[in-house]
Amino acid sequence: MLDACGRAITYLRVSVTDRCDFRCRYCMAEHMRFAPKADVLGLEELDRLCSAFVRLGVRKLRLTGGEPLVRRGVVDLIGSLARHLAEGALDELTLTTNGAQLARHAAALAARGIRRVNVSLDTLRPDVFREVTRRGELADVLGGIAAARRAGLTVKINTVVLAGINDDEIGDVLAWAHGQGMDLVLIEVMPLGEVDRWGGDRLVPLGLVRARLAARYTLVDIPFSTGGPARWVRVAETGGRLGFIAPRVHDFCRTCNRVRLTCTGRLYLCLGRENAVELAPLLRGRESDAALDAAIRAAVLRKPKGHDFAGRADAGSRPALARHMSVTGG
Ligand code: GTP
Ligand code: 5AD
Ligand code: SF4
Repeated sequence: MLDACGRAITYLRVSVTDRCDFRCRYCMAEHMRFAPKADVLGLEELDRLCSAFVRLGVRKLRLTGGEPLVRRGVVDLIGSLARHLAEGALDELTLTTNGAQLARHAAALAARGIRRVNVSLDTLRPDVFREVTRRGELADVLGGIAAARRAGLTVKINTVVLAGINDDEIGDVLAWAHGQGMDLVLIEVMPLGEVDRWGGDRLVPLGLVRARLAARYTLVDIPFSTGGPARWVRVAETGGRLGFIAPRVHDFCRTCNRVRLTCTGRLYLCLGRENAVELAPLLRGRESDAALDAAIRAAVLRKPKGHDFAGRADAGSRPALARHMSVTGG
């Protein structure tokens, strides 16, 4: 399935719920208005949509949230979607999680075909963790990561770099992650939703972070890719991999392979744009698979060329987009 720029869409990110047990300050407001329950797709509806995308050429499915593990039945959904792995129609079924519920679910996830998970973790200091997540406990996430690894899952750590919060700690997070053989990805904070200036004022350009790390470590560019937007280096001293997601610098839009589905069946064609198409009416109008496929193909043709964070974020505290990050799970 190609978009109008000739980019093949092979990666679907599915937000199975817009709810989360945390309230990370750069992602959500303290008081969120969530999607009305009646609008949230059922597990069978989500399965049908995901399967349509797989039929159309998607090779990688990532479940996100909010927090995917707070959605009841998500493990069953994964178990059902895993049939596409078994049939060879899908290369990867994975999820991005805050890790707080991982200890409970790790073994079941591994048993259903999940091989790796990305866990968001911005700090190793319990007090800073509470400050950023508003209601998370670091120990729960560390326990979740350990359980996932015991269950045989590969864990990649995502760290959003935040000025005055964790930017003095990145070297320690790197040493910790690599010390356990986990890849680490550093992410520039993006200005989405009403997040009290956390999307803009806390921005640390990753070029600066890289320069700081280079004073302590030898960073060697490598061509590694997981199909996401990160650019990778090998850290000679640790032997581990370090990724950078810097939307303002990297022109990863040119080779973008992704679209995003929300839990209400809205298809966002770019993380940094409002362009979206509602697919729920097709499900609820009992349209045929052929009609659904045609609607998805037509939607993908409307994918914009790229985001515009750089042009809009510098305008001050106004978010680039009204939509919170939690609506699409990144
Ligand atoms: P891998 O499959 O492991 O490469 O993961 P991923 O980077 O595709 O997914 P993950 O959920 O770990 O996302 C990490 C960060 O990348 C999040 O902050 C996302 O918002 C960001 N991200 C992913 N895709 C895009 C994109 O197309 N544009 C922008 N600007 N950010 C993206
Ligand atoms: N900017 C950048 N990354 C964000 N994430 C959540 N909100 C933002 C934001 N405003 C990250 C989370 C998670 C991933 C899915 O998106 O930390 O790792
Ligand atoms: Fe929840 Fe993830 Fe958003 Fe934090 S970043 S509030 S853990 S969805």
